[in-house]
Amino acid sequence: MTNYKKYISKMISDAIQVDENEVVTFIETPKDKDNGDLAFPCFRLAKILKKSPQEIAIDIKEKIDFDKKIIDKVEIINGYINFYINKLNKTKELFQDIEKNSEYGKSDLGKGKNIVIDYSAPNIAKPFHIGHLKTTVIGGALYNIYKYLGYNVIGINYLGDYGTQFGKLIEGYKRWGTEYDLNENPIDKLADIYKRINILCKEDENVLETCRENFRLLEQKDEYSVKLWQKFKDLSIKEFKKIYDLLGSKFDSWEGESQAASKTEEVIEILEKTGKLVESEGAKIIDLSDKGIDTPCIICKSNGSTIYATRDLAAILDRSRRYDFDKCIYVTSYEQKLHFKQIFEVAKLLGIDEKYTNGLEHVEYGMVRLPSGKMSTREGNFVKIEDLLNETITEAEKIITDKNPNLENKEDVAKKVGIGAVIFNNLATSRVKDEVFDIREMLNFQGETGPYIQYTYVRTKSVLDKLGYLPNIEEINIENLLDKYSQNIIDIISNFQDTLIQVISKSEPSILAKYLIDLSKAYSIFYNENKIINENKDIQNARMYLNYITGNVLKKGAELLGIKMPDKM
Ligand code: ARG
Repeated sequence: MTNYKKYISKMISDAIQVDENEVVTFIETPKDKDNGDLAFPCFRLAKILKKSPQEIAIDIKEKIDFDKKIIDKVEIINGYINFYINKLNKTKELFQDIEKNSEYGKSDLGKGKNIVIDYSAPNIAKPFHIGHLKTTVIGGALYNIYKYLGYNVIGINYLGDYGTQFGKLIEGYKRWGTEYDLNENPIDKLADIYKRINILCKEDENVLETCRENFRLLEQKDEYSVKLWQKFKDLSIKEFKKIYDLLGSKFDSWEGESQAASKTEEVIEILEKTGKLVESEGAKIIDLSDKGIDTPCIICKSNGSTIYATRDLAAILDRSRRYDFDKCIYVTSYEQKLHFKQIFEVAKLLGIDEKYTNGLEHVEYGMVRLPSGKMSTREGNFVKIEDLLNETITEAEKIITDKNPNLENKEDVAKKVGIGAVIFNNLATSRVKDEVFDIREMLNFQGETGPYIQYTYVRTKSVLDKLGYLPNIEEINIENLLDKYSQNIIDIISNFQDTLIQVISKSEPSILAKYLIDLSKAYSIFYNENKIINENKDIQNARMYLNYITGNVLKKGAELLGIKMPDKM
């Protein structure tokens, strides 16, 4: 398809001898279509060229002979040049593009580039909390979109399976393990054991010392300790997988902190050699104050053990070698901002290529709050995500049954709608905003929700079903699609790939979520204003084709976010 911004900037750049790359940054998309599809404000040029914006605009217009097939009208208003794109040609190009590519919007932009995405990463023997739900969903969406744009993506679930807390857990289990049946809800029970031993540790310094000793034994690969730790890990992963199954999450690697822990020695050696690793109150730290970070990064604690940061540094070293990454993205809540600032700075001391240190990116997100009331207080102080997901599915089923009592495969549809609602809700607002997890809100079919997009898709399907045929591209007369409702859809569909590129450049899946809402709304208006099923077969064919491609883009876009589409609902 013609890249209109590029086409216009090239013409302008040739006419006034200003760098094309600069010109392109001036071009705007007017809010109101009456002011053209694209506009070029001449104000900034006025300084450079020492002429009034209006004069410059007139000058440019006179100098350039735009191809009428591409731009059919150019107008000057108050120092702006407004461009009106030739709709017929644009629509034709779009349809050709769609026909040519079995997967519209797909690209090989990322060919030969490796992207590591570190996401989800819950902690063993601790509940998978609502924040983990968010990283799982954001990371999963980024994963799919990078892949669709041709990158080679490696999704890593960097499990929190290491640290002194395991020494405590082993101690607690030794003392009270027999009181608990770990076959059922093991994480709740391990969390309970952990709570109990923590209380004891606070009361009795000797118990704490024993816990530390347990952890040392685990580090030294003591058979009994490793066996227990493995048991906790297996039980936890089994629970996490229930959530991943519901969400449809997949990972290429499950290498967590424990694997990174076995590689921390090299990190310490390298850092020692830089002379930047200094002693402070028995610990080994790196001072980062000259980098504008007030808190030093601890590398070794006074008892010699490593910490979260050390392990992350070891993982960076390992990932650079193993995956030769162009980007390594970490999706966590903004609470870990300082941690990533620190390790990204220290990583520059590891002697790895700048390509790697430049490719490190922390994708942070805001907090998710549960609405107060029954949900947030169940089972002590945390909510099981699995329960929350199942509750949403049950609610979805109630709504569906209400709306469409005779629907087949109701359970399957309810699952798609319930999970789709949760996923969409986690992606709909810009990442860093805090949000509330409100089941009723996210299941509102009329709101800006996942089910609304699914419902719109189902409408496109049912139109096709009703007519029972799909017109051939040759049978479509584009003249029938020049009205503003059809053109609105065509504009949005034309922006699909651009939208995906924006998502990865800002690590912001909400851009795609918003795009799908816009497309759904545009379709609803089109559907209400233009009769698709029409006595005029020529019009009907054209509208049906538009209906068909709208459904396809909605489906593809939703899938990229991790949302499955039902055929009926
Ligand atoms: N396990 C950590 C948590 O639950 C998240 C790990 C994020 N990834 C990383 N490489 N540090 O908070």
